[in-house]
Amino acid sequence: MRMYDIIKNKRDGKELSTEEIKFFIEGYVNDDIPDYQAAALCMAIYFKGMTTREIRDLTFAVRDSGERLDFSSIKGIRVDKHSTGGVGDKTSLVVAPIVASLGVKVAKMSGRGLGHTGGTIDKLEAITGFNTTLSEEDFLKQVNEIGIAIVGQSKALAPADKKLYALRDVTATVDSLPLIISSIMGKKLAADDDCIVLDVKTGSGAFAQTLEESETLARCMVEIGKAAGKKTLALITDMDRPLGKAIGNSLEVIEAVDTLKGNGPEDFTEVCIILATDMLYLADMGTREECEAMVKKAIADGSALETLIKMVKAQGGDVNLILDTENFTKAKYCYEVKAREEGYIFKVDTAGYGKASLLLGAGRNTKEEDIDYSAGIILCKKTGDYVKEGETLAILYTNDLNRIINSEVEFLRSTTISKEKPENRPLVFKRVE
Ligand code: URA
Repeated sequence: MRMYDIIKNKRDGKELSTEEIKFFIEGYVNDDIPDYQAAALCMAIYFKGMTTREIRDLTFAVRDSGERLDFSSIKGIRVDKHSTGGVGDKTSLVVAPIVASLGVKVAKMSGRGLGHTGGTIDKLEAITGFNTTLSEEDFLKQVNEIGIAIVGQSKALAPADKKLYALRDVTATVDSLPLIISSIMGKKLAADDDCIVLDVKTGSGAFAQTLEESETLARCMVEIGKAAGKKTLALITDMDRPLGKAIGNSLEVIEAVDTLKGNGPEDFTEVCIILATDMLYLADMGTREECEAMVKKAIADGSALETLIKMVKAQGGDVNLILDTENFTKAKYCYEVKAREEGYIFKVDTAGYGKASLLLGAGRNTKEEDIDYSAGIILCKKTGDYVKEGETLAILYTNDLNRIINSEVEFLRSTTISKEKPENRPLVFKRVE
């Protein structure tokens, strides 16, 4: 078998066999297949798509590309949540401590930023000292002791995805349904959770932009999860506007902490409550109404925040940053983006906002680039708000003055102001069970 033929077959729209898919994944992981050939195949998949059978084979090949984890030593039900990626999406930092504080175990492996979207691991690393690479033994011990641990994907877990994820990020091949499904589900199935709640984003900041595409993504992932014996459900949530007001790593941690204190933005708080409720529901903790009441109580009585603090402490992070988020280092420069005209914020290109944040230093342009943790954007106005000419739309934060101009241009390009008031979009479109 030759990688050249596999690329050619997919380029010509042919269905790849199980063997061809395995050959590609095994060869790429073993470094027998170079990045340029893997990138070419990803691009062919992007354009030609894959059948359900090919997607399942690719997912299982990714899952089997490394170690399968054994969480059987964790006492209690283990639930995971995974987002397909968004802008300002810091939900894991809120929902994981909530459900862990209620006795459901969260042994979570998260990713880094990808394309215009942020990643939980980058956000956690904005907390000075936070260690995202625990040994398996320490990871399991921590989950048993405090109910929660969040780490980066270990080298041994689904290594094919680790390599592909970074490659896709810099070759414009992230937003392909087969690649997204196999990436997410390959990792999730290599871990050993009982239940998985998938947060499938839809809209201009999501990899699946239409509701139809997002539904296909959700159904396919739920089917693969169930076929592998996991209780799986997906929520399709809005990403036609950023979630909350903060975009960028430490700014998002601050917003997550505010939310756990009950002071978060309304939209973000609502999505977190719905996701945490479904995580508890899937873990058989009660009816949806009972689970929702438990979630709200865990925020109100501070137990969810307490759980986050325990996790930060256990993983070596500076707890003072969580106890008082004023302690986070601020970016050297902040700049107010002003509205050029009066009217309603009619629509925003959410991916453009993600890119504007990346241009400030909050994300990576290449696999190797460092992140400026304090860089990012605080939105002062969101879709549906009315603005006067000269009013502040957003504040840009960065440590590199030269980055502001391009970021402002991208931000303004992504903001449409109109005399017309936009229709309200729901925050949650659908549940796929
Ligand atoms: N999240 C992932 O883990 N993989 C993707 O491909 C997209 C989002």
